[in-house]
Amino acid sequence: MSKKKLNFNSLTIHGGQLAEAATGAVMPPIFQTSTYAQTAPGEHKGYAYSRSGNPTRHALEKSVASIEGADYGLAFGSGLAAIDAVIKLLEPGDEVISTNDLYGGTYRLFTGTFERYGIKFHFVPMGKAEEVAQHLNANTKLIWVETPTNPMMNIIDIKAMSQLAKKAGVLLAVDNTFATAYLQRPIELGADIVMNSGTKYLGGHSDVVIGTLSVKEKILADRLYFIQNSSGAVCGPMDAFLTLRGIKTLHLRMARHSENGRAVAHFLAKHPKVSAVYWPGFEDHPNFAIAQEQMKDFGGMVSFKPKDDTRETAFKILSSLRLFTLAESLGGVESLAGHPASMTHASIPVTEREKTGISEGLIRLSVGIEDEADLLADLEQALN
Ligand SMILES: Cc1ncc(COP(=O)(O)O)c(C=O)c1O
Repeated sequence: MSKKKLNFNSLTIHGGQLAEAATGAVMPPIFQTSTYAQTAPGEHKGYAYSRSGNPTRHALEKSVASIEGADYGLAFGSGLAAIDAVIKLLEPGDEVISTNDLYGGTYRLFTGTFERYGIKFHFVPMGKAEEVAQHLNANTKLIWVETPTNPMMNIIDIKAMSQLAKKAGVLLAVDNTFATAYLQRPIELGADIVMNSGTKYLGGHSDVVIGTLSVKEKILADRLYFIQNSSGAVCGPMDAFLTLRGIKTLHLRMARHSENGRAVAHFLAKHPKVSAVYWPGFEDHPNFAIAQEQMKDFGGMVSFKPKDDTRETAFKILSSLRLFTLAESLGGVESLAGHPASMTHASIPVTEREKTGISEGLIRLSVGIEDEADLLADLEQALN
């Protein structure tokens, strides 16, 4: 059976993978080499130098493209390195429309680095596609979407954004980190570029920092490959191997993350000490209908505000948690909790943060795949 025809739960394991030629190893070896022997100058077996290409990285790149339903994959040293490569497609004077509720490090890269090179960013709410259209102009070259957003769990309509981007002749890039290809299929919905911080759910075990891009068009893939090779922000073979291994259980983990995420969201929504819960699976979520349409389930990310929406109360809850670990990052098998205002989103100015609802009391949970009852008991004792 052609591997192209496999379903998602088989693609995570087999997609783009070939048995290793020399030994038949089922898992690609970690090709821990910087260079490759040549028989004459320029004559080699397809690999000349590991920044330009490495077999373990290629195995991961093929896997990532395959699960995203794309034709080309590229792997980088972090999620931000992958985003950096996308923005390097642009020229000074070009403009980007980005969601205003996004990972703080992405905001910092856009404003702290690329604004200095003459690229202009418009940070706007993207809940209503027709409102995003108002920000398009002749210089717009890219729409940057993160959905669900980090940390407010807003949902952006990928299909509507792709129609907008196509009409305007601009690229649409989607940060698929929170959902992954298991829950959400941006390429099928019309995105040109899908980005993942593989540090999160793809790797899935909090043991690697890595980023990926997937694209369908060869021209775009070639341009991104040129940037990957010329800027050199590639991942090492060990990290590629770990991420490839993580992807093999992505479908199992995402299903359990979603189950536990649902249980935690409903538990918090009923809790007397909680004033608001942000999770796209609630029927009263502003874009619930779109979430239902474009996502298979709602994932394991849940944010909430205590009734006393202060930093002190948030810190008290966070320090009382025992099973949830207070830490940066998300998407691993273990449950993590964070305080966006002082941690993941501290690089966004407070006035901007407040506009999107990132208050001092907001807590973000990455719900892991532990036993549901243990997770709820931990939250109960920390809230009381
Ligand atoms: C949604 C999102 N995008 C991008 C990134 C950046 O990825 P990395 O930390 O791998 O550079 C993160 C990291 O937290 C993230 O949450």
